[in-house]
Amino acid sequence: MNKPLGITVSRHIMDSQRLHPEATGELSGLLGELIVAAKTISAEVNMAGLADILGQSGKVNVQGEKVQKLDEFANNTIKRRMAQCGYLCVMGSEEEDDIIPVKEGYVGKYTLTFDPLDGSSNIDVNVSIGTIFSIHRRRTASGQGTVEDLLQKGRDQVAAGYIIYGSSTMMVYTTGEGVHGFTLDPSVGEFYLSHPDITFPARSRYYSVNEGNSRYWSEGMSRYIEYLKSEDKATHRPYSARYIGSMLADLHRNLIAGGIFLYPRDSKDPSKPEGKLRLLYEAAPFAFVVEQAGGRAITDDGRNILDIEPTSLHQRVPLVIGSRQDVDMFERFITGKN
Ligand code: AHG
Ligand code: MN
Ligand code: MN
Repeated sequence: MNKPLGITVSRHIMDSQRLHPEATGELSGLLGELIVAAKTISAEVNMAGLADILGQSGKVNVQGEKVQKLDEFANNTIKRRMAQCGYLCVMGSEEEDDIIPVKEGYVGKYTLTFDPLDGSSNIDVNVSIGTIFSIHRRRTASGQGTVEDLLQKGRDQVAAGYIIYGSSTMMVYTTGEGVHGFTLDPSVGEFYLSHPDITFPARSRYYSVNEGNSRYWSEGMSRYIEYLKSEDKATHRPYSARYIGSMLADLHRNLIAGGIFLYPRDSKDPSKPEGKLRLLYEAAPFAFVVEQAGGRAITDDGRNILDIEPTSLHQRVPLVIGSRQDVDMFERFITGKN
């Protein structure tokens, strides 16, 4: 008997499209182009040590952080390919101050925001990094898109996901019908379905947070982490700590193994009321993925991430995201119910 054939990501996208007779195939086309960009970046990431591309490019991005060479490569790869794919009207990147226009003649009905390489401080040490993407329908009627098309709440995403360049390269995405993971077979250059219908374990045993910042936490946040570290066999406490320092790698791990990830605001520094992570490029796409997988994503004061109306491209947001019962418990601590 023949072994069943692996389901490729393009097959999977086409099959989901068939469930929507009204679909024009544009979203499938857009995801297909994004996958090509991801494969290009994956190949470059794997070559990084050999190709002398490691190290910093010397530039500083809009967030005031050093831009690494691979960040630049990833940003340019996505920008160039997607600007001419014909499905987008405008893009926004974590690495670009302003919107990225799409050339006239190539204008389509979708928008793309992306973090070209998340966890870039981990490039030089061979730890997993990845690309995060978020897709919306345009708001403006026609012509080249504007910033207004990009400032949309996470709830209105039509697709979101990420590509992790780890021990193997994986793509994980949702179009609002569950979360599916695909692993790249580099010998064929194809992503195959490896993790269908990913669901978060309801409660976990792991927490991911930069505990070096604990002196700056709010009282509720500090009490919650102390609670996770206290003993109770029935709820698997104390939890174990896992913090990689690439949000994408931390959240990927938590999605598969269960866990809660927290990047709260710095309560002692009024200049950092919103934490570190960006709403449009990091928090909202992951919130969509995590909710679709049965988890939950809120701010450190209990607002649903997907309901936040963005007011600027590079807006930051304090993020608490992960297994539903863990996030529920966090909420009890910050609202004084525990
Ligand atoms: P980026 O590499 O895209 O700038 O993002 C880095 C982010 C995120 O991936 C990670 O969770 C966080 O920075 C780590 O921050 P700390 O070093 O402050 O813990
Ligand atoms: Mn990032
Ligand atoms: Mn980045």
